[in-house]
Amino acid sequence: MSSQLSNISNHKFSIQDLQQLVKDELLKTDQIISHSLKSDVPLIETIAKHLIYAGGKRIRPLLSLICARLFTKTIPPETLYLATAVEFIHTATLLHDDVIDDSDLRRGLQSAHKVWGNPSSILAGDYLFARAFELMVKTDSLDILRILSETSAKIAAGEVLQLTHSHSLNVAEDVALKIIGAKTAELFAAACQTGALTGNATPEQASLLYRYGYSLGMVFQLTDDILDYTTVNNRGKNIGDDFLEGKVTLPLIYAYQKATLQHRDFLESVFNTQQPNESYFKDVLSIIEEYQGFKTTYDIAKGHAQTAFDLIGNFDSPLARSLQDLIVYCLEREA
Ligand code: IPE
Ligand code: IPE
Ligand code: MG
Ligand code: MG
Repeated sequence: MSSQLSNISNHKFSIQDLQQLVKDELLKTDQIISHSLKSDVPLIETIAKHLIYAGGKRIRPLLSLICARLFTKTIPPETLYLATAVEFIHTATLLHDDVIDDSDLRRGLQSAHKVWGNPSSILAGDYLFARAFELMVKTDSLDILRILSETSAKIAAGEVLQLTHSHSLNVAEDVALKIIGAKTAELFAAACQTGALTGNATPEQASLLYRYGYSLGMVFQLTDDILDYTTVNNRGKNIGDDFLEGKVTLPLIYAYQKATLQHRDFLESVFNTQQPNESYFKDVLSIIEEYQGFKTTYDIAKGHAQTAFDLIGNFDSPLARSLQDLIVYCLEREA
């Protein structure tokens, strides 16, 4: 396989191309999702289905399925339960995250808390978490249960850590990276590691894929933080959510570090209020651009992409190549 990320990064991959590789298994995962959403309480089912059927890229279950297939020709039912559990954990965090971030739009639809209110939305998220644990038990693996329980705790801790730093512009880079790692990269990592375990990978092979997934997740969240300011395509959520919520992400942190005193004062006046004023969005955007906040963030993402690329170089198969493609997709995505 090619040893440099730059050698393969000049052609782009759609997520649909990669989904084709495990299309039957993704379909079966969707069937388990549907089945597992049934509830006697109609509101729970309505809210969960609202978000789940709105789509989503299903990247995390895709990772679990591909990582299992690296080690087995036939994907066992346990991988499907696991892939569903991983998507449920992700969806639960989205339900909670939209309440915390006060985001209006998710997967192209009005977000659940805007339709049914915060309490129902949070409780529906809890329900999905609980269902995820049921599905993990069905994998019959204490290792998987342990890994995903720890991951769930790390995600929650990451969101809380982020909350304690919102509106604060001089967050240290390592703290910001730690937040991203906990809230996003850990689930990517666990999806890969546990997927591999259901395919009978050795613990060492599964750990290697954990590290691949972690770096990939870092790439994914770093590009997400850039796209939150710059996206031109419709990606199903509103542009400027992070700014409006006063969430300080890496493009802004890097720009603030380099900005003149005058620009710093301006940014502080905008972010130290409870709710940054929409009319300042363009100014903040151009300050980030002026001090190369997006470029610096993208360069960091490229570093993680190369790490992921080096790790996946330990496997040599067409499927491993698709995991290379996924790195390029995460780095170059526009939506
Ligand atoms: C959104 O994840 C949350 C982040 C980690 C940025 P995705 O972009 O994977 O969301 P869906 O599942 O495709 O909607
Ligand atoms: C995603 O962070 C983290 C989790 C869902 C745990 P973001 O807040 O950046 O995700 P989006 O942009 O709302 O999808
Ligand atoms: Mg959010
Ligand atoms: Mg975001």
